Amino acid sequence: MRKFGFFAGLLVVLLTATQVFAGPIVIKFSHVVAVDTPKGQAAEYFKKLVEERSNGSIKVEVYPNSSLFDDKDVMTPLMTNAVQMAAPSFSKFTSFAPSLQLVDLPFLFNDANHLHAVLGGSVGQKILDTVGKKGLVGLAFWDSGFKQLSANKPLIWPQDAEGLKFRIMSSKVLEAQFKAVGANPQVLPFSEVYSALQQGVVDAAENPLSNFYTKKFYEVQSDLTLSNHGYLGYLVVTNKIFWSKLNDEQKALINQAMKEATEYGNKLAVKMDEDYLVKIKESGKTTVHELTPEQRQAWKSKMMVIYPEFYDVIGKDLIEEAIALGK
Ligand code: LMR
Repeated sequence: MRKFGFFAGLLVVLLTATQVFAGPIVIKFSHVVAVDTPKGQAAEYFKKLVEERSNGSIKVEVYPNSSLFDDKDVMTPLMTNAVQMAAPSFSKFTSFAPSLQLVDLPFLFNDANHLHAVLGGSVGQKILDTVGKKGLVGLAFWDSGFKQLSANKPLIWPQDAEGLKFRIMSSKVLEAQFKAVGANPQVLPFSEVYSALQQGVVDAAENPLSNFYTKKFYEVQSDLTLSNHGYLGYLVVTNKIFWSKLNDEQKALINQAMKEATEYGNKLAVKMDEDYLVKIKESGKTTVHELTPEQRQAWKSKMMVIYPEFYDVIGKDLIEEAIALGK
């Protein structure tokens, strides 16, 4: 009888194990941008590596262009494991983990090297720990690029933005940033930006060049200012329900593929920024403006006054640590 109990127990263990290993494991990866963007391409590359290396036992279904969920709506299915991966921008974590708004602070990063030093060091680790406490597993940071301002008039000095309705992502930092220049920020999902600009629901926006081009915002914005005033990047996340079902080998495979996809996507982000600027100019629909150091400094002085407002919610030490890495 005892022996029977032992074998029955063994059977249960084996069945559970086969259930875990029974393939294919499916990773639904939801995102909101076009395929031809740094995020879109990194997701495709990740899919390719994972499927090849797992011999098809792990399948990655990538859903671009908000075809599965909007960024805002993806958090719930992600938490309940209806979706296994997403790469929302840091702003989209605001209600979930407000300290991630650090990355939204205007003029925080001098350049991409500074940004990578921040996310690749202890500040980045703190961000990963924060989402870890909320039932998610942070897998990587992906770049999009620096954001540029656009409107239907040239935005050269901060006062040019006064009274304009700016589309923003759901971030209190971005809200404060535009209020600081006398504009009216309005939160909208990414999928609604084109029509909102077209119909005049909003007048202006901030986007990296890849999003500005691939979503055809150049058709509905006559002027683009190369302001590089803020950074847009992503935190690639999965959930603990899904992650805990994987064995060590599968986790290692996914982590390695993610590492390579990150390098691939981040390199591409630099190239795409250059290529899309050429394409935007070639469209002939948007006039591109460069700022003199004096003009850029004027935006910087106006926008950076918001930092103290966020000392509590983000953490003054975290902000100071990030700034120090740029010196
Ligand atoms: C936005 O909403 O503007 C961005 O988060 C879109 C994206 O994911 O690049």
